[in-house]
Amino acid sequence: MAMIAAKCPQYKVTVADINAQKIKAWQTEKLPIYEPGLLEVVKKALDRNLFFSTDIEGNIKTADIIFVSVNTPTKTYGGGAGKTADLQYWEKTARDIVRIAESDKIIIEKSTLPVRTAEAMERILNAKNKGIHFDVVSNPEFLAEGTAISDLENPDRVLIGSRETEKGRKAREEIVEIYANWVPRDRIITCDVWSAELSKLVANAFLAQRISSINSISALCEKTEADIKKVARAIGMDSRIGSKFLNASIGFGGSCFRKDILNLVYICERYGLHEVAQYWENVVKINEYQEGRFVQKMIHAMFNTIAHKRITLFGFAFKANTGDTRESPAIYVVRKLLEEHARVVITDPEALHNAEQDLKDSREYVEFETDPYKATQHAHAIAIMTEWELYKTLDYKKIFENMEKPAFLFDGRNILDHQKIHEIGFNVYPIGKSPLTHF
Ligand SMILES: NC(=O)c1ccc[n+]([C@@H]2O[C@H](COP(=O)([O-])OP(=O)(O)OC[C@H]3O[C@@H](n4cnc5c(N)ncnc54)[C@H](O)[C@@H]3O)[C@@H](O)[C@H]2O)c1
Repeated sequence: MAMIAAKCPQYKVTVADINAQKIKAWQTEKLPIYEPGLLEVVKKALDRNLFFSTDIEGNIKTADIIFVSVNTPTKTYGGGAGKTADLQYWEKTARDIVRIAESDKIIIEKSTLPVRTAEAMERILNAKNKGIHFDVVSNPEFLAEGTAISDLENPDRVLIGSRETEKGRKAREEIVEIYANWVPRDRIITCDVWSAELSKLVANAFLAQRISSINSISALCEKTEADIKKVARAIGMDSRIGSKFLNASIGFGGSCFRKDILNLVYICERYGLHEVAQYWENVVKINEYQEGRFVQKMIHAMFNTIAHKRITLFGFAFKANTGDTRESPAIYVVRKLLEEHARVVITDPEALHNAEQDLKDSREYVEFETDPYKATQHAHAIAIMTEWELYKTLDYKKIFENMEKPAFLFDGRNILDHQKIHEIGFNVYPIGKSPLTHF
């Protein structure tokens, strides 16, 4: 919404959220999320044509277009628990809109939703005939956290789905007009609502599938002394495969990949497509396998016991350039290390606050430290969880000197020069390559 406001001064954009704390923070220098370049975009439009408010009712009344971007987490109860999306926040918003609206509106499905949700929402919206008409348009968001601003400024495509009726097409055209203020027309594609909804789930499933594919091969490389980086380079140069998303790692995290794939799995099961469901579910299973393998490797390397050993995690965010820790592999790793009675220290440039929230039930066993040098003092091992640039440039000689010996380094993101780190004295365990040890 900040990008739309910044690019289109002729529109008045109001962000309305029930969370008053967030709404307050959006109007300060300390935004509620860390996202490179976002503060500048917000500042450009704030109080000009970008406003933040907790007045949901008032803003529903006055808006012509409503982007519904509420959370759609995986359902944790009842039918479809653990797989399908929990639509209670979306449905509540739809019901609020019906109750409060006094004029025709375009309702944009911005949250990621399972296929055919827009149809259900349209029914709710248009059921109570107050003489008001609602058009539901699907406009899934393809930005990635950490690169949100460049993704929004220069998107590969903007997708807008609507009903193929005269009113539906007119509503769709109004949304095309907004994006056309800065996105080339040939990158704004339109289609029916269901195809738009499904495209978002499928895009995330394909991206996650690439990570699981390369991670599955990393396990084979570790057994056979092949090097996953060399394999990834060789296959990535095939223009049919392409080089992106081929970094082997501890696995994917984030609020979307797992939830969206499980949504897809659930839909397939509902339609009786069990083989298709299983195919996609395995993308999630390989991710869990990769996390489990990483922890097992740590325990095995450190002489089959990590009890009372001090282990420092470099990074807690699910990826670099974000403070977001939702579904971060680091959460799993910490829990497993604590089960083995290790002493865990976590450092991260942006995610420590969220890490403290995620681990509030075990805070007394975990240390949170902003300075990576302090965090590694007297540590037995370092595990790199997040590919922050910062961790590539640290003085590992200095770090090594202050650690217990033998010192271990488990590179869950394959970001370091392993040979160099080994020469300093570390026992190094990358992903998808043979370890470099001094034993
Ligand atoms: N985070 C991403 O990178 C990303 C990318 C693409 C799509 N999405 C999708 O966007 C949606 C939102 O994701 P998010 O990461 O921003 O979630 P989030 O949980 O960070 O934000 C959702 C916000 O909605 C607010 N909210 C809930 N109910 C409300 C209501 N009735 N009225 C007003 N506000 C309400 C919450 O207070 C919260 O601030 C999800 O469907 C997600 O799948 C997210």
